[in-house]
Amino acid sequence: MVKKKQIFSIDDISDGDINRLFFRARSFKESNNYPQFRKAVLLTAFFEPSTRTRLSFEMAALRLGMRVANFQPQTSSMSKGESIEETIDTLLAMNPDILVTRQAESLKLPLKTHGIVINGGDGCNEHPSQALLDCFTLLHHFQSDNLYKKNILIIGDIAHSRVAHSGIKLLKRLNANVFLLSPKALAVVHEDVENFTSFNDVPTDIDVVMCLRVQKERLGQGDVFNQRDFIADFCLTKERLENFHKHCAILHPGPMNKGIEISEEVAKHPCSLISEQVKNGIFIRAALMEYGLELKSL
Ligand code: NCD
Repeated sequence: MVKKKQIFSIDDISDGDINRLFFRARSFKESNNYPQFRKAVLLTAFFEPSTRTRLSFEMAALRLGMRVANFQPQTSSMSKGESIEETIDTLLAMNPDILVTRQAESLKLPLKTHGIVINGGDGCNEHPSQALLDCFTLLHHFQSDNLYKKNILIIGDIAHSRVAHSGIKLLKRLNANVFLLSPKALAVVHEDVENFTSFNDVPTDIDVVMCLRVQKERLGQGDVFNQRDFIADFCLTKERLENFHKHCAILHPGPMNKGIEISEEVAKHPCSLISEQVKNGIFIRAALMEYGLELKSL
């Protein structure tokens, strides 16, 4: 597979390179020792809100000794009518070594640049660095290099979730069994993945459950969503969690809407890996940018 310098999908990274990313992230986690790229510049350009992803890339870049610039759409010429495409072309002309972008629509690829571009989330499409950090968290949790025979249940708004779309692809590549639970209106069909619309039908031998926020900002005009019904039917409560394996791990990419897709109690449960996901985000993004900088110099 040709190595891609514009990483928009988890499909843009080969199995071998994914294993290498996990290996490097593990080494950063264990040693806290990072190679230094003092001349390299990361530019982040987030046209949609973000707490974790943007800061996680920026923190990881600082760990790698990189310099960081941050584009702020609110105070930019976008308010003077410049489009996202024009703005991104302008940012790329400034020649950052790595550009991380987030926006509501997928960008038209390939972009004109010699640098590396990483997708920090494009609409309902993909969020590859989140899939990498979620799977890295699970591999570390299970002390394994694959997820063979692990039963992973993803609950919530699958249709609008870029986290789910990248996550399902990577979980399958790591040989996990993936199950989806969502209201019919928020379901999406994925190859080799079983869909459920009721907790009662879900298998009980679940090893990992991932809860997803309902992406209200992406619901279309025709989408029917009743929050009260959603909470009654899909919120992960302690009682529901107890149907699964005793030590079932809990994931959530954040931001959490406690009391809607996940109860307060489950969010704080001893089996929750949610803050571990945030910590691991830095290691995986450092590994991803190290990989990018190596690719750039090829
Ligand atoms: C997610 C996103 O932005 O796609 N958050 C994240 O990156 N950690 C999920 C969400 O917004 O619900």
